[in-house]
Amino acid sequence: MHITIVPIHEANDDIIFFEEKSCTEFGKVQLIPKGEELIVYIGIGQDSLTLENIRFLGGISRKSLSNAKEDAAVSAEFSLIMNRAENPELGQVISSFMEGWYLADYQFSSYKRAPKLNQLTMRWEEESLREYDQAARIRANAVNLARDLCNEPANKLTPTTYAERLKQVFRETDVTVQVIDGDELVSNEFAGIHTVAKGSSEPAKLVVLTLDRDACKEKIALVGKGVTFDSGGTNVKIGKDIGEMKMDMGGSAAVAGAMKLLADSNTAANVVAILPLVENLADGNAFLPSDVIRYRNGLHVEVGNTDAEGRLILADGILYAQLLGAKKIVDIATLTGSIGSALGLKAAGVFSNAETDLWHYKQLGDQTGDYVWPMPVYDDYLHYLKSDCGDVNNMSSSPYGGSITAALFLKQFVEKGIKWVHIDMANTVRPWREQGYYVPGASGFGVRLLFEMVRSELAPSQI
Ligand code: BES
Ligand code: ZN
Ligand code: ZN
Repeated sequence: MHITIVPIHEANDDIIFFEEKSCTEFGKVQLIPKGEELIVYIGIGQDSLTLENIRFLGGISRKSLSNAKEDAAVSAEFSLIMNRAENPELGQVISSFMEGWYLADYQFSSYKRAPKLNQLTMRWEEESLREYDQAARIRANAVNLARDLCNEPANKLTPTTYAERLKQVFRETDVTVQVIDGDELVSNEFAGIHTVAKGSSEPAKLVVLTLDRDACKEKIALVGKGVTFDSGGTNVKIGKDIGEMKMDMGGSAAVAGAMKLLADSNTAANVVAILPLVENLADGNAFLPSDVIRYRNGLHVEVGNTDAEGRLILADGILYAQLLGAKKIVDIATLTGSIGSALGLKAAGVFSNAETDLWHYKQLGDQTGDYVWPMPVYDDYLHYLKSDCGDVNNMSSSPYGGSITAALFLKQFVEKGIKWVHIDMANTVRPWREQGYYVPGASGFGVRLLFEMVRSELAPSQI
């Protein structure tokens, strides 16, 4: 059987489109068999299509074929999409469509007996088009790596198995993997990581991924929160909040995915990724509210709340990035519940000590589908992080602006002259709705955004 994907005007009277949950305002689908052929009509109800719209069309097309026969060959017509594309560049249009296709062609089925998703292959008339398809596959694979990591339950993905998995993922690439653990964490002054991990029988790991393809380039550090389960610790989480917490390593997964994409796309970057991996539990050795932690820069932090553990381990990551000579640091974390209250579930918050760049990151988010919105870091709010016992408290005394005070806490660890960007993705680690190319489970948020952020730092004239 042959399958042909045919985009048409939604207003076409001959076809009644299906309102399926993956469909959107601008893209609907209908399958019509014609002899030996199956036509997938994609009804386009919008005059101008962004790249993300085109990715969604690819996603809807793939999902509509989940029952198609394995050996079917698929081809697609792109003329209507090209006509409607905001930027009608054939390579980008095909790549975006196929990125959506491969992202929808994902299922986390490691622990399911049910049959796996059917395999379908796209046929290309011209050899030159295959290259765009390949670029899309590389991008989607990196996002799907982050999804895989986030979807793993906490009993399967511990700091130890996570570190092993990363060794495996990067084995055949230019990325080197170093794991710091045990006494080395203490002797090398990773105070936050060591402290948070104390209450769990799972030992902490600090994974450092290095991709040094061009040592002449300024070193960029990506730091990702890797809490494989966040119970809150002694300030234990309650109710349904706790079930989500296997994905509290979403920041580190985004960084791992971005490193994979940088590696596989042969980007000439000088990037170091720092991934503190811990489990936040509360056994008899656990750290306690009111404990004081001394960091390598001499700063003493009072633990106001053991559930604000992400910032404690990221502080170590940020300090280590500077020790390794990074001049630009991007950290990404499922850091605060407040970011969802501020922005809803579509966009993550982006913060920086170089505020003027924030709109550029917002633009990169719009292009990649990893939406972010600029947030302030008001130094005045340091008032809320005052500590009686140490230099700073990890918990704000105000019930308002929790994402901003969390960012401000991190900023205390950034030295003068270092550019720092912080992404709070607590609200986007899952898709806000399962439309287009999104499927149940993790979204894979951050991979494409971090990749483009690194690329744009390599060519800063675009900012
Ligand atoms: N991992 C959570 C943040 C989170 C919340 C992620 C919801 C995903 C969904 C983080 O460690 C946390 O618990 N933050 C606290 C901070 C507070 C104790 C200052 C929060 O946001 O409530
Ligand atoms: Zn927490
Ligand atoms: Zn957390």
